[in-house]
Amino acid sequence: MADIETLQSEILAEVEAAGDERALEDVRISALGKKGRVSELMKGLGKMDPEERKTMGPALNGLKNTIVDAIDAKKSALHEAALDARLASEKVDVTLPIAPEAKGSIHPVSQVFDEITAIFADMGFAVKEGPDIEDDFHNFTALNFPDGHPAREMHDTFFFHPDENGDRKLLRTHTSPVQIRTMMQEKPPLRIIVPGKTYRCDSDQTHTPMFHQLEGLVIDKETHMGHLKWCLEEFVKAFFEVDKLRSRFRPHFFPFTEPSAEMDIGYEKVGNEIRIGQGDNWMEILGCGMVHPNVLRNVGLDPDEYQGFAFGLGVDRLAMLKYGIPDLRDFFAADIRWLKHYGFAPLDMPNLASGLSR
Ligand code: DAH
Repeated sequence: MADIETLQSEILAEVEAAGDERALEDVRISALGKKGRVSELMKGLGKMDPEERKTMGPALNGLKNTIVDAIDAKKSALHEAALDARLASEKVDVTLPIAPEAKGSIHPVSQVFDEITAIFADMGFAVKEGPDIEDDFHNFTALNFPDGHPAREMHDTFFFHPDENGDRKLLRTHTSPVQIRTMMQEKPPLRIIVPGKTYRCDSDQTHTPMFHQLEGLVIDKETHMGHLKWCLEEFVKAFFEVDKLRSRFRPHFFPFTEPSAEMDIGYEKVGNEIRIGQGDNWMEILGCGMVHPNVLRNVGLDPDEYQGFAFGLGVDRLAMLKYGIPDLRDFFAADIRWLKHYGFAPLDMPNLASGLSR
């Protein structure tokens, strides 16, 4: 009996000394686990004579219960202490100043790309991209620019040095090569837009060597000029956020479309402000046309089965027009004052539901 009491006070002392839940679990196993000290004593009960068992049985049970209760009590005490410690270390000081406002802003070109993408996404267009460094085939040949054709010269191309095979890579002069890449990779019907950087050797108030274009391409079996006209008019109205639009499609030449046109939109000048939509003045806004049968053949499509329209527009110029920015070169001057003035709030993603430019 004395042994039991000693063992009890020993184990209770160990329980009391346990500093955390792991240590307490070790104590439990060493006392009550399969090979624990109390369990070993209990195994001995079977070998005792009935008289001895009568006294030892209840004594051992009492010991076990006392220890279980002590462990449970210690466990909840430790648990609470752990929680208190966590609460103390993780406390929030609500008197601290809030996080400072974001310093950056969205560049007008990024903003306009996001706006245009929102409009065309609503019409079911997917976004495609292609490499800035192109080859002659994708930038010119496949787009029906014949070798030596003067249209190649119009583009003021930046060429790389020829490689060992004599092939000259170039910086793409327009986003149209992505038409070719997409048509060679995917089967029609296609409805894509291509936002991206483009390069020409040119620099003045309205030209920079790097600028941004957006290409559009629709290929299907019954696509016609009426679809082109509707699609582009809806786009321009949504982009300039006007209900009415005067527009005209003026014949033009591009090697990769036939017929080709430039789209003009009406505008009026009120003081220094340009109002898009109405008025007697015309402004050229984009190039477009029906995809040339040769282009379709070049990518392995049968022009008797498929046809489509394409368009290309200058994104920087659209940004200048919509947001009244006078000089294109400032776009790329990385002047923090300019960016603060013309930039957009980072968390306002343009969408058609809440208004593009709010
Ligand atoms: N690639 C032309 C350029 O950079 C723009 C263009 C015009 C693209 C008409 C088109 C189009 O897809 O149909 O000058």
